[in-house]
Amino acid sequence: MKTYIVGNWKMNFTVGEASIYLHKLLKTIKPAKNLQVAIVPSTVALQPLSLQIDRKKLKLGAQNCCEKDYGAYTGETSITQLRGLVDYCIIGHSERRYVFNETDKMIREKVAACIRNGVTPILCIGETESERTFGETKDVLKDQLVSGLKDISKEDLDKCIIAYEPVWAISSVKGARPATPDDIASSINIIRDHLKATYGKEIAEKIPVLYGGSVNPNNAGAYLTIPGVNGLLIGGASLIASQFNDIIETAKKVAA
Ligand code: 13P
Repeated sequence: MKTYIVGNWKMNFTVGEASIYLHKLLKTIKPAKNLQVAIVPSTVALQPLSLQIDRKKLKLGAQNCCEKDYGAYTGETSITQLRGLVDYCIIGHSERRYVFNETDKMIREKVAACIRNGVTPILCIGETESERTFGETKDVLKDQLVSGLKDISKEDLDKCIIAYEPVWAISSVKGARPATPDDIASSINIIRDHLKATYGKEIAEKIPVLYGGSVNPNNAGAYLTIPGVNGLLIGGASLIASQFNDIIETAKKVAA
């Protein structure tokens, strides 16, 4: 299976800054077998970057999309409008769930919209600090998986990527602390076991599961070697081209 390194830039960089960053990254990055690198800039930068990018080296993703394909939805961007520009779309990031109050229904409809439009959804799931403290991690992960994948047929499941992002480990969250490899391994097992029980062993093993939360060049190697982890979804460290490149180099060694 491929290893995925995905940089979620969140609401950072002007279009000009994004273009300069990409220019730098394209100079250093070399395509590698079994490694897929993607950057996920703001919507406004997708069109210009799509003209600049070398898709043999890296791909583009969107951070969000509307669940509808077109219509009277002021301020929204649909995946129908984004397809052609992006290969991936992050869906249900915790910042969308908890800052913008996205509901389970919206999230599953967005996943379905991506599949309908030929874009790979990266469905983010993860428990909050208090859910973890109260021993609810397993239930939360299962609920978010059941709900997020509800409108997806078994045949389409292998067009999805899951990202496990414990909210308490995301660097911008107050009091964030990095997850230990054991914390992550236990949640990855919950995710894979659920997928296996629901969809069967074959498909459960085929779906890439990424980890995200305070990933940096120092811990990337340890995180990537956790069994069942197929890549990383990186926030803060992806904003610094040299750090993102170091993580890519580590991933190349792991993927080789
Ligand atoms: P950090 O890597 O900054 O913790 O962000 C993780 C994240 O939210 C990626 O989607």
